[in-house]
Amino acid sequence: MSTPRKAQGSRRQEPFEALDATLRPARWEEYVGQKQVKANVRIAIDAAKKRGGMPEHLLFYGPPGVGKTTLAHLVALTLGAQLKSTSGVAIERAADLAAILTNLEPGTVLFIDEIHRLSRKIEELLYPALESGHLDIVLGKGPSARTVELALPPFTLVGATTRVAELSGPLRSRFGGGTYQLDFYSEEDLRDIIRRSARLLGLSTPEEVIERVAARSRATPRVANALLKRVRDFSEVHELPLSTGLLERAFELFGIDALGLTKDDRRYLEALHKSFRGGPAGVRALAASLHEEADTMEHVYEPYLLRLGLIERSPRGRMLTPRGRNYLGGESLL
Ligand SMILES: Nc1ncnc2c1ncn2[C@@H]1O[C@H](COP(=O)(O)OP(=O)(O)OP(=O)(O)O)[C@@H](O)[C@H]1O
Ligand SMILES: [Mg+2]
Repeated sequence: MSTPRKAQGSRRQEPFEALDATLRPARWEEYVGQKQVKANVRIAIDAAKKRGGMPEHLLFYGPPGVGKTTLAHLVALTLGAQLKSTSGVAIERAADLAAILTNLEPGTVLFIDEIHRLSRKIEELLYPALESGHLDIVLGKGPSARTVELALPPFTLVGATTRVAELSGPLRSRFGGGTYQLDFYSEEDLRDIIRRSARLLGLSTPEEVIERVAARSRATPRVANALLKRVRDFSEVHELPLSTGLLERAFELFGIDALGLTKDDRRYLEALHKSFRGGPAGVRALAASLHEEADTMEHVYEPYLLRLGLIERSPRGRMLTPRGRNYLGGESLL
């Protein structure tokens, strides 16, 4: 049995899955923001449809919760294709991949989430499948071993990852022009997302409420939806309408500040400030001092702290920025 290439940190995705399914856009018009990615992907799909073929393979990368899986669903929907979802963790052996690929209905969109977790061996098996639509199967062992080419039904692979740097060069190159980075969202886009979600959840939400939830959403649609649902719960329990006053009480209880930072983010910043005098601190040393996995820190907390300009990554390690110091000093950074 092959082992995954790197140990992975915990992901905060699971509790949101049901919510994601309810609020996930089912039409391009509902997929807010990411204009350039959307336009390019739609052109690739429309062109393929005109030709009566399948679009090129696609790779979506970006932080957790920014809409990669949602895009994969939209690609399949638009093509009127079946979506077969799997994950890099699930494909452990060559036989697993061979079984998936040989059983695809022609014209399927194969979605491989966490594609960076495929082992090198599996990646290598995937190359000919992506390039020329066949699998090289080795029969027998030793000197009598021979390779047979197995033709595959036409399919489009959609890969998604939060860690594009961990993908091997050759695999990345197989996606060519079909590689798209999904970025954090503007507050305006988040407000649109929250407005739509509030409507779907049957909530009456004043504009100021939408604004404040958006501001605390860490520039991430999944967080926006999760936060909206938490404030809805809070208002239902207290039998009070959603108002800015109610929100302040709710955020206080959740431990979420005006920038959307949580207790965990503050612990991170404080450790950097106090235990490492503002850095530079090596990611492993910092993680150890917080009893966190370096991996979780790097991929869950840091992207948003970097975006806010509270920390910096330098070759020597993590550093608190002047803005980060001001934040810890209690200054409002809004
Ligand atoms: N562009 C968007 N417009 C509207 N809603 C969005 C958009 N992107 C994401 N969402 C909402 O956020 C939820 C999470 O998005 P999604 O599951 O696609 O993220 P992801 O990038 O695949 O995350 P992960 O890396 O954790 O797998 C969706 O179910 C949807 O409700
Ligand atoms: Mg996803």
